[in-house]
Amino acid sequence: MSDKATLTFGDSSFELNVLIGTENEKALDVSQLRKNSGVITYDDGYGNTGSCESSVTFIDGDKGILRYRGYDIAELAEKANFLEVCLLLLNGELPTSAQLSNFQEKVSAFQNLPSEVLKAVESLPANIHPMASLATGLQALGGACSHLCTNDRQKDLENFDDAAALIIAALPALAAASHRKKVGESFKNPDKSHNYCTNFLSMMFAKEGDKPINSSLSKALDLIFLLHADHEQNCSTSTCRMIASGGANPFASLAGAVSALWGPLHGGANMAVINMLNDIHSSGDDGSGFIQSAKEGKSRLMGFGHRVYRNYDPRAKILKSACDQALEALGVSSPILDIARRLEEVALQDPYFIDRKLYPNVDFYSGIILQALGFPTNTFTVLFAIGRAPGWLAHWKEIAQTGKRIHRPRQIYQGSTLRYYEPLANR
Ligand code: SDX
Repeated sequence: MSDKATLTFGDSSFELNVLIGTENEKALDVSQLRKNSGVITYDDGYGNTGSCESSVTFIDGDKGILRYRGYDIAELAEKANFLEVCLLLLNGELPTSAQLSNFQEKVSAFQNLPSEVLKAVESLPANIHPMASLATGLQALGGACSHLCTNDRQKDLENFDDAAALIIAALPALAAASHRKKVGESFKNPDKSHNYCTNFLSMMFAKEGDKPINSSLSKALDLIFLLHADHEQNCSTSTCRMIASGGANPFASLAGAVSALWGPLHGGANMAVINMLNDIHSSGDDGSGFIQSAKEGKSRLMGFGHRVYRNYDPRAKILKSACDQALEALGVSSPILDIARRLEEVALQDPYFIDRKLYPNVDFYSGIILQALGFPTNTFTVLFAIGRAPGWLAHWKEIAQTGKRIHRPRQIYQGSTLRYYEPLANR
């Protein structure tokens, strides 16, 4: 396959390089196009545009493949844990047992929030959304640890391992501080004897005299974090890269990514799925009425569809079976799981969804497990952010290390052409 392409425009032709990736993906390199031809490309929503070369995650949307640093998501889900995958994403290799235990110790040591950060989170308005609280807490954390966020790229890279461990450690504590404030309970300090997920569940929900947390529940949460850990150039990760390209530190870049993730079409979908399933359940509809309204464009089947996957999202497949295990471990049944299954069954046989290649995505089943674990619906996207933090950090590091130019897309202007100021008296 030639690694050159020719673009003909008017009576001129322009030769373009063809970029070929390690998985044989191909891209026309248009980085010199405007300089050589005076024209730019246009791609609303970037559906056909590669913003970068990256080595972190590979997705084949047609085949439903997802790999972190070359390892298939199904194998990692079965054999690895979240903190191990954090190091894989951050460093590019699976850690040795010494590296993993050092990282676990570092994360455990960082889980105590600086007191002024805890006060900042607890001083936020009672009705603030947990995602807004998380973004604020991240920036406050950066302020409290200013030696880790200097906006001097070299310095921030030298301190990156500490910054990454601190952020991964602090996000659950920030989430727990916001939740405890909202429910009128005092903050519960981390317990170093717990693993990462057990500690988080304890910080969120534990009360004096509670029984120890069932390990299968923290395993279910660990799996959810692992499955959310990265997903190449999605909206929030591209936002993180955009901010990082300007030289901003990891705390600022991730605070921006948290805000991008909040949207209902992106990470906010897991909350929207549960609200959708609960509404269907309370309306007495078995799901077929809702499917009809989605086909008529009156509503969206939240948790379905994906810009890249034109096949079943491999994460949804894993989460669907994890639902059964989590509910069994909790000894609870979930009427909304039955509705979700029916929605999936009906949709996957309906031409509307088949023709548009709409399948369940990561958000379709994750909320059912989170609801069963006791998380309030409005914290679901916070959990997505905790899972996605290592991915965002890995992409921040990739931008910082490769020293890429600041991201600055072009546009096609469709506004008013030149006109002159009309004095106020004449308007
Ligand atoms: C995440 O990018 C990532 O990698 C994201 C993510 C990650 O890990 O970071 O995977 C996480 O964000 C998953 C997606 C979560 N969002 C939802 O579940 C919200 C519901 N899904 C849709 O809004 C939609 O499918 C998107 C946003 C996911 C994708 O949107 P696209 O690619 O812009 O597709 P589109 O909106 O142009 O839809 C194409 C067609 C349209 O119909 P027509 O105009 O052709 O007739 O499909 C229809 C849409 O109406 N359609 C749906 C639908 N999704 C698309 N119809 C009903 N229900 C849906 N869910």
